Amino acid sequence: MKLFVDTGSIKDIEAIASLGIIDGVTTNPSLLAKEPGDFRDNLKRICEIVQGPVSGEVTATDTAGMLREGRDIAKIDPHMVVKVPLTRDGIRACKTLAGEGIRVNVTLVFSAAQALLAAKAGATFVSPFVGRLDDVATDGMRLIREIVDIYDNYAFKTEVLVASCRHPMHIVEAARMGADICTCPPAVIDALFNHPLTNIGLERFLKDWEKAQAVKA
Ligand code: G3P
Repeated sequence: MKLFVDTGSIKDIEAIASLGIIDGVTTNPSLLAKEPGDFRDNLKRICEIVQGPVSGEVTATDTAGMLREGRDIAKIDPHMVVKVPLTRDGIRACKTLAGEGIRVNVTLVFSAAQALLAAKAGATFVSPFVGRLDDVATDGMRLIREIVDIYDNYAFKTEVLVASCRHPMHIVEAARMGADICTCPPAVIDALFNHPLTNIGLERFLKDWEKAQAVKA
């Protein structure tokens, strides 16, 4: 399973990329709005750092505007992926952009029916938001299972990009279900490392080693 980081922070992306475990980046208008500087320059820099798919989202809500913005985003760098919302205009834009060879990530997906539409429109990625479903007392991970089943049934090439991941169990469950990608905020990627027994074990190994060295000295 691929791991993307969901942030617009170049500082955070540089730090996480240095771990060698990141395959791509997702951004959205809320995330990019937090960053200083021109968003195109920032996306370009992110592409240079990760050398993998980087999603940049359109803010137009009509198909013509999405196409204009989408083509502009795609020109930033060959790694760019255009993110469009799952609306009628977004699906029309997805179909057209995909036809032009531009990779599209269909976002704000909350049902299996919507995920089916994204696949039929030729999306490269579909982004179901598991955390936001959990927020409204609906099982987000159940949606991932449904989408993976449907895509498998028909061998759709669209990759399931689990978004709005809030904690490590979202990632573990997504991997067990065979989702293609999880995108997570830096803090959640950081949390994947944590286990108290790792810390306790390392401390014990080092103490035993030091003790043995002292005896030998
Ligand atoms: O990738 C989508 C993500 O940015 C949404 O996450 O935590 O705002 O629901 P969240």
